[in-house]
Amino acid sequence: KRHLISAADLSRDDALLVLDTAEEMARVADRPIKKLPTLRGRTVVNLFFEDSTRTRISFEAAAKRLSADVINFSAKGSSVSKGESLKDTALTLEAMGADAVVIRHGSSGAPHRLATSGWINGSVVNAGDGTHEHPTQALLDAFTMRRHLSGVGRDLEGRRITIVGDILHSRVARSNVLLLNTLGAHVTLVAPPTLLPIGVEQWPCEVSYDLDAVLARTDALMMLRVQSERMNAAFFPTEREYTRRYGLDGLRMAVLPEHAIVMHPGPMNRGMEITAEVADSPRCTVVEQVANGVSTRMAVLYLLLGGSEPAIATTSATAV
Ligand code: CP
Repeated sequence: KRHLISAADLSRDDALLVLDTAEEMARVADRPIKKLPTLRGRTVVNLFFEDSTRTRISFEAAAKRLSADVINFSAKGSSVSKGESLKDTALTLEAMGADAVVIRHGSSGAPHRLATSGWINGSVVNAGDGTHEHPTQALLDAFTMRRHLSGVGRDLEGRRITIVGDILHSRVARSNVLLLNTLGAHVTLVAPPTLLPIGVEQWPCEVSYDLDAVLARTDALMMLRVQSERMNAAFFPTEREYTRRYGLDGLRMAVLPEHAIVMHPGPMNRGMEITAEVADSPRCTVVEQVANGVSTRMAVLYLLLGGSEPAIATTSATAV
């Protein structure tokens, strides 16, 4: 496949290939020299029209660990602020020979537009578009769940994943529901009715308004950031009411089964959807998810750009 726009692009076999390849890539991070020559001579452009810490940095680290040349482009400080269009920006990148464009954009559908426009020849990777999708986040989350809940090499058949909070604005939730369904997990979304999207009943998951009712039957609890910047007051219960009904504190965490993990894609609103006690507890995988993001994005770039050669088998003797 040439592009990664949606988690729905991935069959079960595709997803398992990415996760298994990410396991190989994770071994590179354990070496004294954390670099492979696989993408030497290739150019990866990080095209970020929206703010990011984790995704931008981890795509940069992933591309550099595969020896690609990396160009970081932020809309802030570029000619986009003078009104330059996505098309003219893309044509400029094409002229510089981009083999892959990793795009984050505030408009849902911008990566799809880029991939189907003919403006560029390289692969397009969606790094988060509006409220639509964030497929590499779902892959790194599945990678993290698999390590904790089912084991390397397996899918997530029968695992019970609960995703809590601002589903309405969450591209992370949508991509996770699609990918987790593909991998056989059972997903429950928990949110106040005002923070659920229209049509959610057609998604392949259950929906609940009651967090306390689902905690005891949860293997992984994913807390989402309340995206205040995307909403007006009409969407939202008061902050105190939201935290009381949907926030995760130590008391609620104690109701989870002993093996269950607490996840968050970051950035967190500490004190709102998650207390500091939970965020800093050993059950919370938020930092581990960031590390797993580098391995997962290495796998995605390798599989899109690296061709058919095995990633590690041919390169372990020639790590640069
Ligand atoms: N999880 C995530 O996408 O974080 P950033 O917005 O910091 O990239």
